[in-house]
Amino acid sequence: MNIALIGYGKMGQTIERIALSRGHKITLRITSGNRNELTADNLRGTDVAIEFTRPDAAKNNVLACLEAGVNVVCGTTGWNEHVAEASAVAEEHKAAFLQASNFSIGVNIFFEVNKLLASLMNGHPEYGVMIEETHHTQKKDAPSGTAITLAEQIVQRLNGKNKWTLNDFNEKDGVPILAHRREHVPGTHTIKYSSEIDDIEIVHTAHNRDGFALGAVLAAEYIAGRRGTFTMKDVLGIK
Ligand SMILES: NC(=O)c1ccc[n+]([C@@H]2O[C@H](COP(=O)([O-])OP(=O)(O)OC[C@H]3O[C@@H](n4cnc5c(N)ncnc54)[C@H](OP(=O)(O)O)[C@@H]3O)[C@@H](O)[C@H]2O)c1
Repeated sequence: MNIALIGYGKMGQTIERIALSRGHKITLRITSGNRNELTADNLRGTDVAIEFTRPDAAKNNVLACLEAGVNVVCGTTGWNEHVAEASAVAEEHKAAFLQASNFSIGVNIFFEVNKLLASLMNGHPEYGVMIEETHHTQKKDAPSGTAITLAEQIVQRLNGKNKWTLNDFNEKDGVPILAHRREHVPGTHTIKYSSEIDDIEIVHTAHNRDGFALGAVLAAEYIAGRRGTFTMKDVLGIK
C-alpha cells in the first residue's frame, strides 16, 4: 500500500516505522515546512493518507486529501466540530474516512468496558463519577480527545449527566475531566466512581506510541479500497 503521511512528528514517524515493517511504502511526508506540497498531483498513486498534525490544521489537510479522492485515516484530536463535514466530503468524492480519538486496540476495548460500567452504575446515584487524563507537555488540546470520547459514552448512559466539564466539579449535571500535563507520558486515562463506602476505578495506561501507530496502520489497511465513513469498531470487529 502507498501511504502519504500528513504530519511527520512523534506519531508520523512511529507510523512510518510500523507501516514499513508491514510492507507498506511511504510516498509523501508533509510537515508545516512543506505543507504547500499537499496537492492532488503529489497524492496521485496514494492508497491512504494518514493525518496526525494539530487541531487547527487537521480540517484543511483532511479535506485536501478527500477532495483528491484519497482515503484518509485521521488521528488528530481537538477538531471534533468539523469531523461531520469531512464525512460528507468523503461521501461526495467517493472516498473513505476514518477518524478516531484513540487508535490503540487496548483503548478501544477500554471504551467498551467504560460503556458497560456506566450502564451498570446508572441505578446508583450515590456514586460520583470523574475522569482523569495525563499526557506529555507538548499536547496542544485539553482535555484529550480520548477523555472526551469516554465522557460522551458516560453522558449517554448515566441519568442526570448532560455534558463534560474541564477541571470543574461544580456542575451537577457534568462529568468532570481533570487534565494533567507531565513530561514523557504517552497517555493515561482513569474513570473513577466514588461513594462514601468504596471506589471503583478502571485505568488505561499507554506505555509508548506504538499502539496508536499500529492501530492507525490497521485502520489504513482496512479502509484501502473502501468508500464511506468508518470507526475503529469496524476495524477491530467490535459489535
Ligand atoms: N488518535 C490517536 O490515537 C492519537 C495518538 C497520539 C496522538 N494523537 C494526536 O495526533 C496529533 C499529532 O501528535 P504528535 O504527537 O505526532 O504531534 P507532533 O509531534 O507535534 O507532530 C505534529 C506534526 O504535524 C506537522 N504539522 C503541523 N502543522 C501542520 C500543517 N498545517 N500541515 C501539515 N503538517 C503540519 C508538524 O510539522 P512541524 O514539525 O514542521 O511543525 C509535525 O510534523 C495530535 O493532535 C495528538 O493529540 C492522536
